[in-house]
This record gives sequence, structure tokens and C-alpha cells, in this order.
Amino acid sequence: MVGDTIWEFRSPRSKFGPGSFNELGAEMKRMRCEKPFVITTRGWVRRGIIDRLKEILGTEVPYWDGVEPEPSAESVEEAAKAFKESNADCLIAIGGGSALDTAKIANLLATYGGSVRDYIAPPYGQGKPVPGPVKPMIAVPTTAGTGSEVTSVAVVTLKAENVKVGISSDYLRPSLALLDPELTLTVPPKVTADTGMDALTHAVEAYIAKPYWAREKPEDPLKRPVYVGSYSVTESLAEKAIELVGKYLRRAVYWGKTDLEARSGMLLASYLAGLAFGNSGVGLAHAASYPLGGRFKVTHGEAVGILLPAVLEYNAPANYEKAKKVGELLSGTECPEKDPQKCAEWAANVIRALQKDIKFTPGLEVVGVTEEDIIEMAEETMKQKRLLATNPRPVDVDGVIWVYKRSMRNY
Ligand SMILES: [Fe+2]
Repeated sequence: MVGDTIWEFRSPRSKFGPGSFNELGAEMKRMRCEKPFVITTRGWVRRGIIDRLKEILGTEVPYWDGVEPEPSAESVEEAAKAFKESNADCLIAIGGGSALDTAKIANLLATYGGSVRDYIAPPYGQGKPVPGPVKPMIAVPTTAGTGSEVTSVAVVTLKAENVKVGISSDYLRPSLALLDPELTLTVPPKVTADTGMDALTHAVEAYIAKPYWAREKPEDPLKRPVYVGSYSVTESLAEKAIELVGKYLRRAVYWGKTDLEARSGMLLASYLAGLAFGNSGVGLAHAASYPLGGRFKVTHGEAVGILLPAVLEYNAPANYEKAKKVGELLSGTECPEKDPQKCAEWAANVIRALQKDIKFTPGLEVVGVTEEDIIEMAEETMKQKRLLATNPRPVDVDGVIWVYKRSMRNY
């Protein structure tokens, strides 16, 4: 096997800062977007976002506000129909990860027709590749977590099978990420904690991901995976994101309505983490979160966050230095131990301490997971080959079982 010698970095144009939402009109002009269509949530419509858009753009904007919390394929298809019927020439998505993901797939279906299942990998769908470019899309995230504004992936729920599946293509990446921290001031503490843990998990998994040179070099350059593994750029982005979460997540949970500095820090963290994992890939925490989401009532952020400390410990032997660095960046202190293995455990405990401070869900047993569920879930995790491909330490069923058991109680 010949290891790869090349990495590539992909990102949309981005604009960040309090008040940046007011520059939406100028951005649309730059993109030659004359007839926009908005996809958002009922909550945002109730909070007057459509009136505000009318003020900013000086015209009525057609919209669809049926975004579901864990968007179903049906809801996404409904959004696609509304977008298509509007004859709009660009798409503006306003909301959390669910709104952004709904818009990404609606854009695909409105442009090329077909159903969600056409683009989902077997056994659930036909696995058709995304044929080409979609309409220009502006992503306006209102939570600090998924990083969906910069990534090429969108996740939907198939109700019949009760599974979450992703559609991933470079063409789905938004054309512009417009990040205004003021829009995140209304996020309630629990959602702030859950989405913040999703952002931290992206940063940590991107940081420790298998290096790009450990992956086989593709014969055809166009066949290089979207998730290439970790390298200098993704590592730098992830380091900064981890540091920002350590500095600002507590404040964003405690004083979220007024602490704009903390909200800005968290939105930046989530954006940087999105750029990092959107290029390097994630790993075991995300793979093992999928079976949880289907069986138990947990948000995506809860599922990955609960698993993160044990996943860091499991993966530490692949690179003890990196595991230690995660703890040091997050706590702003040096590891007090000499033994590398002890430092990995210490780093995992730094994450657990942060989770306790923000009253994050303390473990799998609280969610209702029992020892009996674990073997079946571990076998299901092994099927997440795309996500496990960039995990730094090889994963087997016993490893996943160890992670689940160790995550029963984090504090
Ligand atoms: Fe995630």
C-alpha cells in the first residue's frame, strides 16, 4: 500500500461577526441572487425573522418553515417542492443544523428531481451520486454546534427504518456561510450545552483523526475521499476550536442571553470545528452515536458528547501526545502527570468536568441504555464504515463495547 502524499482543503466563502446578518442584501447582490427563497423553522418565523428579512432586503421573501428537529425524508421532500415551485434562484437557510441540512437536500432535489432515497447509500436507498452543482445557498446558523454551514454533508431520518443517514457531496457545501453571533443569543441553556458538545466532539475527532498519509493514495485524484484524514490545517483549526470551547462554553450556557463574547467564541468554535472535520473526517464517537439516536431519545450533541471522553481514551494509544494536548487546550493547564497514559485519562476527565459544570447529560444509563442493548448497538456501529475510516485506532466490536460501557456514567 502506498500512503497518500496529498491533502486538499475545501471551504465556502465565510462572513462572521455581530450584525453580519444585516449584510445579507449586499451578499445576495454579489452572488447575483435576485429571487431568494428561505427555509427556516416555525420558531424563527414566530420570532419575526421574515419581517426582519423584509426590512433588510426591502422586499417580501417567500419561505417554508416546516423544518423538523431531526428532519425526516418526507419533510425534506416537502421543502424541495416548495423551493422548486417558488422559481427562486437562490436559497437562504436560517436555523440550527436541522434547517441547514434540510435546505442542502431540498436544494439537491429541487435542482435534479427524485427522492431522498435516490441519493442514500444501500441498503436504504439507491446510492446515486449528486449529479452536479446546485443553486447558490447562503447558510445562516443560529446554533453553535453542527458546523453544517461549511460542510458537504446533510443528515436525514428515515422514519420507516428509524435510522439516520447522511448524503455527502462537495456540491452540497453552501456557497456562503453567514455567521452572526447575535442570532444565537436566544438558544436555551440545554441546547447550548448539547450543540457545544457536538462542536467539541467535531474538533477532538478531527484533531486526532488518522493522518492523511496513513490512508492509501487513490489512483484517480478525483476519487480521493472528501474526508482525507488529519493534516496541518485541520489540526490548527481544531486546536483553536478546542481552546475556544474550554474558554466560552460554560459562559454561553450560564449567561447565554447577554454574553455576546461567549456566544461569538462558541459560534467561531463550531465554525472552525466544522472546517476541521469537514475536511479531515470524524471517528468513533460519531459512528457509535448513530445506533443511540435510533433507539433512545437523545439529541445528536448528547449522543456524541456522552461518548467523547471514552472515545478519547480508546484512541489515545494511536497518539498519546494529541490526547494530552486535547486536555491542555480545553483546560488551559498542563497535564500534571508524567505517564502518557495517565495524561490521556486526565484529558478525558477534563471533558467530564466541563460536562458536569454545564449539567450535560451524565451518561448512557440516564438515557435508558442497559448492558443488554450494548452488543447489538456495537454491531451496528461497525457498519458505519465511512465514519470509522478516519478513526485513528482500528475499531472492533470489543472496542465499541468498551466505549459504551465506559460511557454509562461520566460523572
Ligand atoms: Fe456531529
